[in-house]
Amino acid sequence: MTDLAGKHIVLGLSGGIACYKAAELCRALIREGATVQVVMTEAAAQFITPVTMQALSNRPVYGSQWDAREPNNMAHINLSREADAILIAPCSADFMAKLLHGRADDLLSLMCLARPLSGEAGGPGGASKAVPLLIAPAMNREMWAHPATQRNLVQLQADGATILGVGSGFQACGETGDGRMLEPAELLEDVIAFFQPKRLAGHHVLVTAGPTYEAIDPVRGITNRSSGKMGFAIARAAREAGAEVTLVAGPVSLPTPRGVTRVDVRSAQDMLGVVTAAAQAATVLVATAAVADWRPAKAADHKIKKDGSGQPPALQFTENPDILATVAQSARARSGALFCVGFAAESHDLLAHAQAKRARKGVPLLVGNIGPATFGQDDNALLLVDAQGTRELPRASKLALARELIAEIAQRAGATGPKTV
Ligand code: C5P
Repeated sequence: MTDLAGKHIVLGLSGGIACYKAAELCRALIREGATVQVVMTEAAAQFITPVTMQALSNRPVYGSQWDAREPNNMAHINLSREADAILIAPCSADFMAKLLHGRADDLLSLMCLARPLSGEAGGPGGASKAVPLLIAPAMNREMWAHPATQRNLVQLQADGATILGVGSGFQACGETGDGRMLEPAELLEDVIAFFQPKRLAGHHVLVTAGPTYEAIDPVRGITNRSSGKMGFAIARAAREAGAEVTLVAGPVSLPTPRGVTRVDVRSAQDMLGVVTAAAQAATVLVATAAVADWRPAKAADHKIKKDGSGQPPALQFTENPDILATVAQSARARSGALFCVGFAAESHDLLAHAQAKRARKGVPLLVGNIGPATFGQDDNALLLVDAQGTRELPRASKLALARELIAEIAQRAGATGPKTV
């Protein structure tokens, strides 16, 4: 299953060195199942040829409002009416200024101005549907910081455009700062997120993910095989659904999903501290972390050495706090302002264990999965257990399951709506 199947994207390029990234972006959109129609300004064609973009998109590129290929000679109308979204990447400072003023002296700006701002898809008599405009700015840091550009950004948003933000770092001009176009992979993630239903808008979702690491001494510790992939997928899906998301991650090597605030922790105690503080503002907690049940009672200050006796060191263990149960018992959770979801990784008897765990943790929704079948994998199968009964989510990618789970959570947490207590 691809994330943009059935979507038709008009990819607009305005003039800027970031045009080289648009080639990769075009491929990425197509890989996710979209069809892509490229429209380029004259300036864009100075940076990358229409030949390249035609080959990658498998469609002739449009550049002129006088394009005679269109029987009605109205490329600006035809192209915008077909689109599920227009994505301008790169969007130069000049092109932003142009959009802002509603100027329309080339095909791309003309098409953006002509795009329907409201309407239902597939209406009778050729009624038009609203066509969103997504903008990926790209410019030198001084141009980006200029009050004129910042003013234009605010006004473009007020006029209904979605600004996808900029990257920061070394720029083609040799300077370092904000204003680079986002990388193709980042833009792709943003476009995919744009099309997801905003079921959790207004919510603040807190997710724990990955293993914890309990130190024995400065170089050794106890951990487990949790990869963090399920939790990271849930954080991404929650963000796609419009929530503000805080992801508290044990030691894993996974990239942070776009738009998610990540806090890295090591031990269960670190995780408890961060989660209890963040839970004060959260409306949903999804605890996917595989928290170590025990930790060494005292981590040695120095590396424990073999003493020649042939005997291993006698390690003493202390039980770790149960983070989920602690938060589920808080006043905020008990008042219904915070909806708590637990996970159970079992090796057998999933239903019985999940039901028992739901009661023991005191959470309204418990999600069971078979641990050995999912650790480190990109797919999983889930069993949802709540007071009403059970629902199976059959094997699928972790991201697809995360989106389904978020829809289930939104139904339950959304009933009361986001609250602040
Ligand atoms: O008891 P068990 O570890 O099987 O429970 C799993 C659920 O409880 C998961 O949601 C996990 O994130 C959470 N948990 C926790 N703190 C612990 C142990 C588990 O938050 N110390």
